[in-house]
Amino acid sequence: EPSLHYYNRLNLFRNAFGIAFDIDGVLIRGNETIGRAPDALRRLYKDVERGELLVPYIFLTNGGGTTEAARAVVLTRQLKVPVNPIQVLLGHTPFKSFAKRYRSRRVLAVGKGDPAKAMTSYGFPKVVKMEDFYKEFPHIDPLESFKPWVKNETIPTDMHTPANERQIAAVFVCSDPVDWGGDLQVLCDVLRSGGLPGNVDSNIPQPPIFFAADDFEYPAKFPVPRFGMGAFRIALETLYVKLTKRPLAFTSFGKPKPIVYHLAGKSLHNIARMMHLQDKMLLPSTETSTASTLELPEPREEDPPLKTLYMIGDNPETDIAGAIRVGRPWFSILVRSGYFRGTGNHDKYPADKVVDDVYEAVDFILKREG
Ligand code: G3P
Ligand code: MG
Repeated sequence: EPSLHYYNRLNLFRNAFGIAFDIDGVLIRGNETIGRAPDALRRLYKDVERGELLVPYIFLTNGGGTTEAARAVVLTRQLKVPVNPIQVLLGHTPFKSFAKRYRSRRVLAVGKGDPAKAMTSYGFPKVVKMEDFYKEFPHIDPLESFKPWVKNETIPTDMHTPANERQIAAVFVCSDPVDWGGDLQVLCDVLRSGGLPGNVDSNIPQPPIFFAADDFEYPAKFPVPRFGMGAFRIALETLYVKLTKRPLAFTSFGKPKPIVYHLAGKSLHNIARMMHLQDKMLLPSTETSTASTLELPEPREEDPPLKTLYMIGDNPETDIAGAIRVGRPWFSILVRSGYFRGTGNHDKYPADKVVDDVYEAVDFILKREG
């Protein structure tokens, strides 16, 4: 059958398939790799040195705070395989689709790392990061003098800049907020003033707020999981409702949202097509890679679909729940190396397969497909 031959010429497997790897709790914990993660990934290359893939795979994380290109560089160093930016899907990667909507309006980027850089790389022309936004509003944070890390330099408000240019049209929470106390205060100010802190007007509509993910907790280096973006969202929502007596209108992305799996499937499909068309390696990423590497062609009608898409994750409520919700061709594999530590399967969101770690997961896939 020609359609199978199309992929199998390179894949050497019976069926065409792709793999999406969750990062935290599967491949990395803190800054260190988990178990034999690098060995597991090496098995997906025909030639690791040349970056020539045998199996299309991507990283599908709810984390973020960098550009995809910068994260690819870090992953390359940590996992010792050449990672291309097109293989990196962060929690905020779907924000790219909003760049046109906000092409002439100012947006606020919140979270650890450099979320404004990521937003700018997506094509948002007017992005201000939370740390800089604070400085436009003297005395907005009465606790600032107790925060030794805050540089005490107030940007004087330019009275000639029209309010509609300083106004925030939408908030994008890209990665875990660092200074919860200050950020909660300023976000409540933004949301109940129609985007320009300093007044309260219940007649002005609340600006949209988007969250890259909604993870309540995630495993970090500490023995007990840490609060994630979902916990921050609950804190913000609680305060906003108490303040305004109105519900908070928000949209969150990240696993387990179906759109993320559709985007992931599209990426895997395109990587498989590139493997076929180019018949050569995916080049190792560099810091200079730009967002244009994210511009993947739409899958074509005539492309045969990947028959199985594997999701390897450690969190039943995000990684596995999402794969269950979108159904086939997704096949979920739950690992015990991160958030989930149970001996059997998860009660509410049982995975198709449960294994100890990512090496075992890849081994299972290659045997099942081989
Ligand atoms: O902040 C949550 C994030 O660390 C979860 O990452 O890779 O497990 O989706 P991941
Ligand atoms: Mg995880």
